[in-house]
Amino acid sequence: MEIVYGVIRMSEKILFDLLAPSSRRFLTPVLSRQTGAESCPETLDELAAKTADCVCCALRNSASQVVFGQGNPHAALMFVGEGPGAEEDKQGQPFVGAAGQLLDKILTAIDLSREEVYIANIVKCRPPENRTPSVKEAGTCLPYLTQQIALIQPKIIVCLGSVAAQTLIDSKQKISQMRGTWHEKNGIRYIATFHPAALLRDPSRKRPVWEDMKKVRDAYQEILGRRV
Ligand code: URA
Repeated sequence: MEIVYGVIRMSEKILFDLLAPSSRRFLTPVLSRQTGAESCPETLDELAAKTADCVCCALRNSASQVVFGQGNPHAALMFVGEGPGAEEDKQGQPFVGAAGQLLDKILTAIDLSREEVYIANIVKCRPPENRTPSVKEAGTCLPYLTQQIALIQPKIIVCLGSVAAQTLIDSKQKISQMRGTWHEKNGIRYIATFHPAALLRDPSRKRPVWEDMKKVRDAYQEILGRRV
């Protein structure tokens, strides 16, 4: 039994280290609630099944289903958005609505496809009326994303919008300050850019997003060992 608790404590420490310092305070209560030998799934399918059963916050009450994530389970490049919208809630996949169609175009522009990368969200259940998830909701859901990251082991994470950037990089900075610069943590390179939905609302953000995505493309090509 002691060994089991030792392994759980070690896994918690790994998850804890992956988080932005400001988000860490949310990890402890959630992980202790989930404590048990089954709390650290070994595959994405196991984790998806566990996530589907989650009742850790009220978002699950109004959502039709949990939107876990989609893509290459061994992706070196991961995109993290805010949370499912109406279409994602209906289809059970991330970024399949209008913002998702724009994300697909952005991926194509840097020679990528959905199948090559992994796409997930900070919260896995649609917030009612598409409102922004609260800091508490983001923190409650975060252990699922952290476990996804631990299983996928991406080298680069692109934070789409302020919720992802403030949860994963720095809660105190605005997206406009954070975007376009690299932040390294635990061997993963993080970069933030504007959310595709923000781009739909304000086309003047196209240029900065394109600048950010060129950085992502070059860093990713470098990881793949291709010339840039
Ligand atoms: N916006 C997000 O942040 N995520 C989605 O999955 C869809 C829209």
